Amino acid sequence: MKRILTGIQSTGIPHLGNILGAIEPAIRLANTSGTECLYFIADLHSLTTIKDAETRLANVRSVAAAWLALGLDPEKSLLYRQSKIPQVTELSWYLGCFMPFSRLSLAHSFKDKSDNLGDVSAGLFTYPVLMAADILLYDVNTVPVGKDQLQHLEFTRDVARRINHEYQQELFVVPEASTDERVMVVPGIDGRKMSKSYNNFVDIFLPEKKLKKKINSIVTSSTPVEEPKDPDTCNVFRLYELLATPEATETMKANYRNGGYGYGAAKKALFELILDTYADTRTTYDRYVNDPAEIDRVLEKCEQNVRERADRKLAEVRKALGFG
Ligand code: TYM
Repeated sequence: MKRILTGIQSTGIPHLGNILGAIEPAIRLANTSGTECLYFIADLHSLTTIKDAETRLANVRSVAAAWLALGLDPEKSLLYRQSKIPQVTELSWYLGCFMPFSRLSLAHSFKDKSDNLGDVSAGLFTYPVLMAADILLYDVNTVPVGKDQLQHLEFTRDVARRINHEYQQELFVVPEASTDERVMVVPGIDGRKMSKSYNNFVDIFLPEKKLKKKINSIVTSSTPVEEPKDPDTCNVFRLYELLATPEATETMKANYRNGGYGYGAAKKALFELILDTYADTRTTYDRYVNDPAEIDRVLEKCEQNVRERADRKLAEVRKALGFG
C-alpha cells in the first residue's frame, strides 16, 4: 500500500494552479488502487500570512469544499485540518532541532522576503520544518506537489535521513515528490507562475460574469486580429491547452497560426472551456460552501482517524529520541 499526502494552505479559494498542479493529480492518485491518501488544509501555515480569524475559518471551508467538489471521496481518503492534529507541532519541534539554520535560510519562502527582515516572522522562517512534520508524521511515500514545493520536499528528505542516521534506525520513511511536468508551473494571467501573492490567479469558482472579466484581463500581445500568432507564447493558449482535448488544442493552434483569429475569440473559448470543464464542480462547491455544518462533519470524522495515526507515530519518535 502506497501512502500519499499533500496539503493546500488556507490562504483563499484554491486557484487553477493549485487545482491542476496539486488537487487533481492527488485525486487521481486517490482513485488508483493500492493507495491510501491523506489530504489536508494547511491552516497553521496560513497564519504566517493571514492573521484574521474569520477569514481563516472561511478559507478553510473553501479549501475543503474545493477538494470535495473536485471529487475527493472522504469515505476512501482522509481530508483534515492541520490544526486539528496538534501532534504535528510537537514533531515540528523535534525536527527543527535537526534542521540546520543555514539550510533553512536558503528556503525560497524565506529568501524571497529576506530583503526586509522586519517583515519575516520566526514562523515564516521555520515554515519548511512544519511542512516536514506534516509529511513525516504519517510514513508517507509520495507527495504530489507543484514545482514551487520541491525544495521543501528536499528539506524533508534531508531531515528524515539525518535523524534516521543519528538514531541508527528507519524511524522516518523518506518521501518522494510527485510532479507532472505539464502542470508543475501553471501560468497566471500575466504569464508568471499563477500565485495568490502575485494576484494573477484564476478562481474557477467565481460567478460567470466575474470569471469572464478575469479571463478577459489575461495579458496578450498587440498583434492585430488578421495576423498569424504564436500560440506557445500566448497566456490564453497556455491555459487553454491545459484543459482542452488534444484535438481542440490542435484546432486552436491552427487558429492562431492561420491569422484572422483574435485574442477576444481565444479568451471566449477559454472561458467557455472552464465553464464546461468545471460545471458540476462549481455547483457542488456552492452547495458545500452553503452547508458549513456538512463540511465540518466530514472533516471531524477524518480527523479522529488521523489523530490516532499521529499518536502512534509520535510514540515511536518520543521513544527513539529518549522522551519515552
Ligand atoms: P500552496 O498552498 O501554496 O499550494 C498548494 C499546492 O498547489 C501547488 N501550486 C501550483 N502548481 C502548479 N502551478 C502553480 N501556479 C501553482 N501554485 C501552487 C503547490 O506547489 C502546492 O502543491 N507549503 C505548501 C502547503 C503544505 C504542504 C505540506 C504541501 C504544507 N504542508 C505538506 C505538501 C506536503 C503550500 O504553501 O502550498
